[in-house]
Amino acid sequence: MKKLMIAFMMLALPGLAAAAGAGPHLDKANIDLTDKASLQRGARLFVNYCLNCHSANFMRHNRMGKDLGISDELVAENLLFTADKVGAPMGIAMPLEDAQNWFGTPPPDLSVMARAKGAGDEGANWLYTYFRSFYIDTSRPFGVNNTVFKDVGMPHVLWELQGMQTLVNAEELAAHKGAKPEFALNQPGSMSAEEYDQAARDLTNFMVYMGEPAQLERKSLGIWVALFLLFFFFIAYALKKEYWKDIH
Ligand code: HEC
Repeated sequence: MKKLMIAFMMLALPGLAAAAGAGPHLDKANIDLTDKASLQRGARLFVNYCLNCHSANFMRHNRMGKDLGISDELVAENLLFTADKVGAPMGIAMPLEDAQNWFGTPPPDLSVMARAKGAGDEGANWLYTYFRSFYIDTSRPFGVNNTVFKDVGMPHVLWELQGMQTLVNAEELAAHKGAKPEFALNQPGSMSAEEYDQAARDLTNFMVYMGEPAQLERKSLGIWVALFLLFFFFIAYALKKEYWKDIH
């Protein structure tokens, strides 16, 4: 009975935590994985602004080109800024050790980050909100903080596009963690607010898409492992029968 209670509590706890609204406010990403133009724009942003620090080891450039309808030549011309070969995994342009020293935390691999940030739409919503929630905080090493990732160790790498904003309702947020943050643009970027929202959506779309092939690959590997174990079980069982045959 006690065990049953414990099992029940373990099942119920994550649900309760979600119901209590423990996390920060997230905006809806509303991504569309079938929108190829959006995925292509997202891929471009990702390669130009993220791979300097992060890796995406699951993703291969040529597979990306194939899935998104971009030819190998175009991938090589437009998407790669390092001397990477087409067909190589998207590596990091910075040695991990340097990254560790510069940022305190090494930038994590982004292959399955959309899924790591939550099930269903939640991972996408998290990313979409994250990209739009950097604000000026002079107490931080890079001069910015983030409402969904407190004291984040990453600079606002898209600031030239979005501009720089300040957090207007810091007190309210301190009192109610789930409150919706309000920002005011302090210094405009090259994009309007709507254009930047779309860019954040494209980037999120691409990152969710990127998590999928990796997920599929791991699942198909899992099936083979399960099949092997089943096969091995029958062999072991047959052997056992054979060994014990004459003993009774
Ligand atoms: C200048 C280096 C740098 C660049 C460029 C950069 N990041 Fe980061 N990023 C970091 C570091 C360092 C961290 C770890 C922050 C921490 O743990 O405090 C991080 C963390 C993150 C996280 C949170 C990971 C987690 O563990 O929760 C996400 C998501 C992310 N980056 C996405 C991106 C995307 C998308 C881009 C491109 C638009 C990008 N980053 C560009 C350095 C960078």
